[in-house]
Parts: sequence; C-alpha cells; structure tokens
Amino acid sequence: MQVKTNALSPSRWTGDAIVLFLFEGDMEPIGLLGDDVAQMTGDRAARVVFSAKADTFLALNAPGERVRSVYLAGLGKKEKVSIDAWRRAMAAAVKQAGRDRHLKMLAVPGGEASPAVSAALAEGALLGEYRFDKYKSKDDPSEVPTVLEELHIHEGDKEAIEKGLITARAQNFARDLANEPGNVINPVTLAEQARRMAEETGIECTILDEKKMEDLGMNGILSVGGGSHTPPRLIHMIYRPVGTPSRRVAFVGKGLTFDSGGLNIKPGDYMRSMKGDKTGACNAIAIMKAVSEIKPGFEIHAFVGAVENMPGGGAYRPDDVIRMFSGKTVEVDNTDAEGRIVLGDVLAYASKQEPSVIVDMATLTGACVVALGGYTAGIFTNDPDLAASFMEVSRSTGERLWELPMDDERLKKKIRSEMADVVNSGGRYGGAITAAMFLREFVDEGIKWLHMDIAGVDTSDEDYGYYRKGATGFGVRTCLEWLSKYESR
Ligand code: BES
Ligand code: MN
Ligand code: ZN
Repeated sequence: MQVKTNALSPSRWTGDAIVLFLFEGDMEPIGLLGDDVAQMTGDRAARVVFSAKADTFLALNAPGERVRSVYLAGLGKKEKVSIDAWRRAMAAAVKQAGRDRHLKMLAVPGGEASPAVSAALAEGALLGEYRFDKYKSKDDPSEVPTVLEELHIHEGDKEAIEKGLITARAQNFARDLANEPGNVINPVTLAEQARRMAEETGIECTILDEKKMEDLGMNGILSVGGGSHTPPRLIHMIYRPVGTPSRRVAFVGKGLTFDSGGLNIKPGDYMRSMKGDKTGACNAIAIMKAVSEIKPGFEIHAFVGAVENMPGGGAYRPDDVIRMFSGKTVEVDNTDAEGRIVLGDVLAYASKQEPSVIVDMATLTGACVVALGGYTAGIFTNDPDLAASFMEVSRSTGERLWELPMDDERLKKKIRSEMADVVNSGGRYGGAITAAMFLREFVDEGIKWLHMDIAGVDTSDEDYGYYRKGATGFGVRTCLEWLSKYESR
C-alpha cells in the first residue's frame, strides 16, 4: 500500500472510497465531501442515527461517478479522543475497503491532521490490512479482501506519515514472525530470520550457538534448551549510528519458540498458543528493523534468547541446580518457569555491554494476565523515571501499560532457595512480580532496567481495531516511540 499526503479538496478528489473521521455530535465535516455526496451521506447517517462514538463505522454507497463508497468513522467525543481511536478508525476503513474491493481511498481527518494523527492514520492503515494467510491453499476469492493500492491522507504530515509507516511495517514484521508455528520457527530458524533481516538492513548480527554458549557458561539457556532436538541460540544485533553515540540502549526478548512446559508439561489447553512464547524476541528483532530506517543518534542492541522448552531425554529437571552465566545459582522448582531462566542469562550478557538502559519484553507469566487482563501489559522497573516515560508514551501508542510494584520485601522471600541463590518459581500469588524480581537478580547494578510482561497482550483472540486474531506485535510501537522521545531528552 502506498500512503501519501494529498492537498486536493475532498469535494474534487476521485477514487474508490472516501473515509471521513467524525467526532461525536459534530456532523458538520460531512460538508467537506462536496455537494454531490455530502447531502446523501448526511441524510443516510441521520437515518441510521450514526453517533460517531469511538469504534463506530458506517459504510455507504455513493451514487455518483466520482467515488463509489463513503465511510464514516467515529472517534468519540472530541475532548476525550485518543490517538489510538484514529488508528482504530483508519483500520476499520481499510478492512471495509478490502471487503468492498476498493483500491484507492482518501482519508479526510477534517482539519485535524496533526503529525501525531497523520502517523496514527498511516499505522492504522498498514496494521489494519495485515493478514497471515500464507498457509492457506487457494481461498474462495470472494472471501479474500483486496489490498488497497493507494491511500491519500488529506493534508497529512509527510514526515509523520513516513514515520508511521516504518513503525507499522516493523510491527507487522513482528506479527509475521510470531504467527509462524513452532515447526517452522525454532531457535535455529529464528536466528536465521534475524540474520537475514540484519543483512538486508545493515544491522550487525552475531549468533552464539550451543558450543559458544557452553564456553561462556550460559547454563540457564542450555538447561532450558536441553530437552529439544533443536539447540538454542543467542541472537545479538547491533545498530551503530554514524559519529559518536550519545548512549547505548539494549532491548532483550524472550524467544521461547515453543513452550511445552518441559517435564512439568502443560495440559493441552494451556500448551495451545505457546508458539507465541517468542513474541518478546520477535518484537526486539522488529525494533531493530525500524531502527535501521529511523537511524537514531545512539547505539542500540537487541539480545534474544531463542530456545525451545521440551520434555526430551536431555531435559532439565525439577530439583536441578543451575549455575547461570552470571555465576548465580538457580534451583529449579518448575521447568515451566523457563523464561526467567533464559532471560537471566540474556540479561546478564546484555549487562556486560554496559548499556545505560535495558528494556526487556517477555511473555513471562500467566499471573500477569490474571492481574491485568489480556489488554494491558505489566511493567516493572528499578527506575521510576523510566516507568513514567513508558506510561506517557503508552497514552499515545494505545498500548496499555500498568506498573506493578517491585518493593515488597516479604514477597521477595518467595524466590529464596534453601540450597541455591534463588529458586525459579515463587508460587501462584504475585507470580508476575516474583518473576520480575527473579529477572532483577541478573541485571547489573547501575543499569536502568524495565521489564514488560506481554503475556496475554501479545496475541488477540478476536479481530479488534487494527488487530486480527493472532499476534499483535504489542510493544513494538511503544518501544519505538519511547526511543524517539528518549533521543530528544
Ligand atoms: N510462557 C508462559 C507464560 C504464559 C502463560 C504466557 C500464558 C502467555 C500466556 C511461562 O513460561 C509459564 O509457563 N509461566 C508459568 C510460571 C509458573 C510455572 C511459575 C505460569 O505462568 O503458569
Ligand atoms: Mn513456561
Ligand atoms: Zn514460557
């Protein structure tokens, strides 16, 4: 899809469809559409009592020659509108245009096309058209929507549109990787995908194989990967700016290409969807893709622990004691609490590069989904300013975040072990927090660190806004937006 700004008046524009964005209680912008369509649009909108509440949508056939469809997309009350409402409204229009077999659409934000809105519209369009249907052999053609060829944004901000496109392409890339099943994406093939992207974009990429990890003593990763026929990989990607970088930021991703639970095997219902236990990794890799295009002024690293947790003969066991890369020892209580063991090694390895900030993303705990529901990610940090900046960014990206506390010293005792430094499971209560406390043990003193538990938000069980059933790429937009804010601080 080509997305560009367009200065031509909507009353003179020709194409397949026009989408007009409306605030609740203000139908006046319909006049912008021109006499040939405005009156019929207004009449029919009045007849169906179109409210323009957020996430409402009305598709109308236009009688004229100039355009074939007029869409009205509701944003809700003007005083309360969020940037995300624009994004979702644009996605709804793109989805409808696909069903209506349209190829060329004009988006009319009605004088509201700020840079933020322009970026959101570009994002909503690309995210909304996303499909993952590569494994479907010959669909019924009437069920396959067409893909929009051209989207014109009336008086859109050119630079912001470009930024939105980069962001959305990265998010869709993360979704593509995450939607792949475990028999296609395993630790080795995930590393290959990362390397391929790196070669295409000029990002540095080093992949540590099992032998190298043995030499380094990365026994956390090796233990979790022991039960699988596919050996683990540690993926390390680096973007270096031209000139002297002002600082160094590291993204870390949990890359469990499949989590069966290991010997503490998951029951069937819980194992289903565990191909999605790699979404933190997919996000980190996708962020690097966007970074290669945005070219920020500081050095950015991505570290991914790519591992498959299986109950094979080489599997690690409950009761095992693991000496981690950092030197700390972990007693294994439950082999299904594997993500924190993998990340323990990755965080310690990332720390060695002395970044000023580490942001990790992980589908870490079911407990986080129980605490916050499936639409809000938990954040945990050792730096209050970092939490505040992520919360602020989350308001414009629409990726909901909520901070959970890390200062409960009584709860921290749950990960104490009789015989080792820590135990890998702190039990049911406060499970998202004790998991984060476990991770904290492996981040070097003095490094600002934020952990995002994306369990639940990483996949959508329904079509909603710009999401489709499947991987969401949740976190990519927020991290990229945070990076651009962080750069200017
Ligand atoms: N990958 C899971 C967490 C998860 C659950 C992600 C549901 C997405 C949806 C993780 O490895 C896991 O199994 N965690 C256990 C921890 C427990 C054994 C302490 C959990 O949440 O039950
Ligand atoms: Mn698990
Ligand atoms: Zn897991």
